[in-house]
Amino acid sequence: MTDRKETKGTSGRSYRGDAGLTSKVKKKRGLTASSRRWIERQINDPYVAEARSKGYRSRAALKLEQIDDKHKLLKTGQTVLDLGSAPGGWLQVTSNRIGLDEGKGKLAGIDLLDVDPITNALILKGDINDDEKLAELIAYIGGKADWVISDMAADTTGHRPTDHLRTTALLEMALDTAMRVLVPGGGFLSKCFQGGAEIELLTLMRQAFDQVKHIKPDASRSESVEIYVLCTGFKGVPEHYLFAD
Ligand SMILES: C[S@@+](CC[C@H](N)C(=O)[O-])C[C@H]1O[C@@H](n2cnc3c(N)ncnc32)[C@H](O)[C@@H]1O
Repeated sequence: MTDRKETKGTSGRSYRGDAGLTSKVKKKRGLTASSRRWIERQINDPYVAEARSKGYRSRAALKLEQIDDKHKLLKTGQTVLDLGSAPGGWLQVTSNRIGLDEGKGKLAGIDLLDVDPITNALILKGDINDDEKLAELIAYIGGKADWVISDMAADTTGHRPTDHLRTTALLEMALDTAMRVLVPGGGFLSKCFQGGAEIELLTLMRQAFDQVKHIKPDASRSESVEIYVLCTGFKGVPEHYLFAD
């Protein structure tokens, strides 16, 4: 068994971070079954504890950390655009890896929600579909990025086909943004919900990049349809592609 310390969950109760041990939340008035399931999943999830122990703002940070450890995306001094940044876990990992604290590299992010500041990064509150916000982000990075990374996800409705289409629309917007700013050889990493509608976008990615891989970091829940697409070696915008207005 893994040797994990006992620690406190968001609910304040003690738990051990080992997978397989399941703490239960007592049935209480005012707590829906799905909220109870969410809390139980959080307190029994070793990655929640790991993210907290590393000082990350989100469990999602571990996904980028694991992807970067394995595929070696981020390098000191690079320029990175992070789409769907809140609460800021990917910004933290990226900042560390490009050396932002030491004044190296450039990092800009955007989210519909507030994000606490990250030293030396520009973080906008707004919608990636808003032309003015997009122009502001692009101006900050001088029109060029080595990486566009996107963990954007729409609020889930519980209706899987709807959730798939909404998140695929965000993937499309992220890819459109990437093709506007990536330097030749640059890369694009994005969350993608499998379900069918993403296939046309994958074709476009294969035309625009040397390599397109599907990856699933360990921290991405196995029961989730979430995967990440990793595109490397930007070749340029395919001739037939028309940018979204
Ligand atoms: C899974 S969270 C991102 C977690 C983040 N990568 C981290 O490590 O903390 C997805 C985010 O996408 C954002 N989002 C969804 N639609 C968006 C849009 N149109 N423009 C900007 N952000 C968006 C949501 O507000 C949400 O905060």
